[in-house]
Amino acid sequence: MKIAILGSTGLVGQKFIKILEDSTLSVSKIKFFASPSSLGKQINFRGQSYGIEVISEDVLKDFQVLFISTGEELSLKWSPKALKLGLYVIDNSSAFRLSDHPLIVPEINAELIPKTLDIIANPNCSTIQLVMVLKALQKLGPLKSVHVATYQSVSGAGTPAINELLNQTHDPETSVFPYPIAGTCLPQIGSFDSFGLSSEENKIQRETRKILNLPELDISAFCVRVPTPNVHGEAVWVKWDHEVAIEQATEALRDFENIKLLESSPHYNEVSGTPHVYVSRIHIDPDSPQGLKLWVTADNLLKGAAWNSFQILEEIFKR
Ligand SMILES: NC(=O)c1ccc[n+]([C@@H]2O[C@H](COP(=O)([O-])OP(=O)(O)OC[C@H]3O[C@@H](n4cnc5c(N)ncnc54)[C@H](OP(=O)(O)O)[C@@H]3O)[C@@H](O)[C@H]2O)c1
Repeated sequence: MKIAILGSTGLVGQKFIKILEDSTLSVSKIKFFASPSSLGKQINFRGQSYGIEVISEDVLKDFQVLFISTGEELSLKWSPKALKLGLYVIDNSSAFRLSDHPLIVPEINAELIPKTLDIIANPNCSTIQLVMVLKALQKLGPLKSVHVATYQSVSGAGTPAINELLNQTHDPETSVFPYPIAGTCLPQIGSFDSFGLSSEENKIQRETRKILNLPELDISAFCVRVPTPNVHGEAVWVKWDHEVAIEQATEALRDFENIKLLESSPHYNEVSGTPHVYVSRIHIDPDSPQGLKLWVTADNLLKGAAWNSFQILEEIFKR
């Protein structure tokens, strides 16, 4: 496969390159793109050193797949161009997630990846770990409602956010977050709409409905940034219109590919660096017996981004 990577120097791009390098996928040609400020940097891939380049149509036309992990603006510019030049696009930004292009979590809807060229959108990191669990729990019957409170690490906001968290031990200046993130929690991820919903909350709600193909799903998210370097946690409340049994839920979750059930809640540090979605603290609140409460964690850079994208790449490879 001939693959080009835009956003090679970023948190997601770096993870994706490492997964690809360690995989058995045959890569006959590869190029690494980033911003002009990264020109001169080198990336090692399978024993060879490659210089970072600035993307151009001329170079792109020799490739089959473009992986994008930059902001939305660059994706809006380069995804359609790459498609026109004959490349599949796997896009980590939010640019095409709610468009007519497929929004894919391979364990749920890999069959929607077309055999013809397309832009395949990778969902938001918090959405992915949530929909994996909801898909498994649909085995217990149609979902009546879903509420989720997120506890999202700073790596979800990219390299500058990690740097800001680390620097704030000695420098209270902020540029990524509206307030200093070190030592506190910020109940704001993205900007607010006229209802007071943040853009992250909107993404989770709308993307979940699209991926599960439940346009009317009653889902509400409340997103909070927490001062941890990596891994997102989610407290999730799921309701049905009938009582459910914990045994049924654990069986459905245990049977679902890439979900790991845990007796006790994992440390963010134990989850970091792994490709799974972890579920713990599954319980029924006696005051609300038609529902379940659970704690869901995953590495936002892996299953929430690079690993999910790699799984999409594998599916494209199979086609
Ligand atoms: N972080 C997560 O957990 C996560 C999860 C899911 C989805 N996403 C999405 O994935 C994308 C990347 O996130 P990230 O966390 O990897 O961000 P990041 O660490 O800030 O990396 C951004 C990448 O974009 C490149 N870039 C910036 N401006 C550019 C330009 N003008 N031309 C070419 N390349 C340019 C950067 O290159 P330089 O190094 O040269 O500046 C860098 O490689 C975002 O859309 C994000 O929303 C992130």
